[in-house]
Amino acid sequence: MTGHVFHRNPLDRYPVAVRGEGAYLIDREGKRYLDASGGAAVSCLGHSDRAVIEAIQHQLAKLAFAHTSFFSNEPMEALADALIDFAPAPLDRVYFVSGGSEAMEAALKLARQYFVEKGEPQRRHVIARRQSYHGNTLGALAVGGNQWRRKQFEPLLVDVTHVAPCYAYRGKRSGESDESYAERLAAELEAEIRGLGADTVIAFVAETVVGATLGAVPPVPGYFKRVREVCDRHGVLLILDEVMCGMGRCGTLWAFEAEGIVPDLVTIAKGLGAGYQPIGAVMVAQGIYDTVVRGSGFFQHGHTYLGHAAACAGALAVQRRLHEGGLLARVQPLGAKLEARLRAAFGAHPNVGDIRGRGLFWGVELVADCASKKPFDPHLRVSARVKKEAMAAGLVCYPMGGTIDGARGDHILLAPPFIVEEPQLDELVQKLERAISAALAGAPQTELHESMP
Ligand SMILES: Cc1ncc(COP(=O)(O)O)c(C=O)c1O
Repeated sequence: MTGHVFHRNPLDRYPVAVRGEGAYLIDREGKRYLDASGGAAVSCLGHSDRAVIEAIQHQLAKLAFAHTSFFSNEPMEALADALIDFAPAPLDRVYFVSGGSEAMEAALKLARQYFVEKGEPQRRHVIARRQSYHGNTLGALAVGGNQWRRKQFEPLLVDVTHVAPCYAYRGKRSGESDESYAERLAAELEAEIRGLGADTVIAFVAETVVGATLGAVPPVPGYFKRVREVCDRHGVLLILDEVMCGMGRCGTLWAFEAEGIVPDLVTIAKGLGAGYQPIGAVMVAQGIYDTVVRGSGFFQHGHTYLGHAAACAGALAVQRRLHEGGLLARVQPLGAKLEARLRAAFGAHPNVGDIRGRGLFWGVELVADCASKKPFDPHLRVSARVKKEAMAAGLVCYPMGGTIDGARGDHILLAPPFIVEEPQLDELVQKLERAISAALAGAPQTELHESMP
């Protein structure tokens, strides 16, 4: 591209977005795109929510920024209270940051510091899952389990061990019940903890519903109950990453509500600010907070922009739209309508192997052959081609390659806004059908490149 921006992918041509209108983005040429993935599951209220915009403008006019090592600020206090009002015990404190990777870094460091303060400084290992994504900063990348994203940075990454994700479509054995599958995965986690030395493990980290790397994969029933038991047995913290799947995206404010467990730490970001301002947070269990405060007295961390007043004011308005504005209550019924449309359009498609998801968070896994679940040859770059065709059709969706192991497999992630209407769900499915057909019909195009969150 011309100009001086170092774009995400300098070889790609990006249309210039100039306006947002409800569920649509509009580029400089006036072309309208139905935003069916909120970028990467960010824009949960669409692109022109007056209440959120006005809350930010109002805050900016009053106070834009006051550094949090000198001052607290009103929207930060109010947002923390609002989040805790809707969070189950023992979650009791909120540490604000500016995005998902920062939230993961803070959670990892807080987990480590907790054990140091508690007199267990030998705890140094973190266990996470393969095919997970927790962010691109070095700590978050180390925890992430996507081989492609990690590969060239491997020498800079701290040592983290990875166990299998809960990915029923490919991980569950034939004839295996959900219960036995969950049990088998929990046993693998426990064996890993014992192998490392149970008293040396800090935390197990997982996305409650896996987003970017697997494509909206919910766990089988009972999985997180078993995981919670294993963690509790060994004094290991459970850190859930709800940066993508939380804040109502799966139909409940916290995705873990559907699992009947509560994590010790949970990270949130994308839907928290809904794209109107950059913001993230770590929700912290009371015991962790108390241990740190009664110990050294402070969390040895911090960034310049944490608790930014305008970002917190925007996120507070988002919370109000979800609860008082009734938008959270729309997610389950609209999700059911989206699911029905996806199953009707793609249930018998020869190249759709699996349709999975929860709430308004859905994944469509593409395969070369449904019976054998054989993926497309990665050199065909099917997901990149779907993205290109979808953009041409005026649809923003989030296709990714490497679903199976970081190299093989393709899926499309869908995360439409909670304000979406039924005719837009029809438009979404029709445009997606066209994009998939065009991508699969077209010749391999080597100039195409993968997208990133
Ligand atoms: C589950 C998950 N965790 C963390 C992140 C990182 O968030 P950010 O891109 O805001 O740093 C992402 C981003 O896609 C994510 O999906």
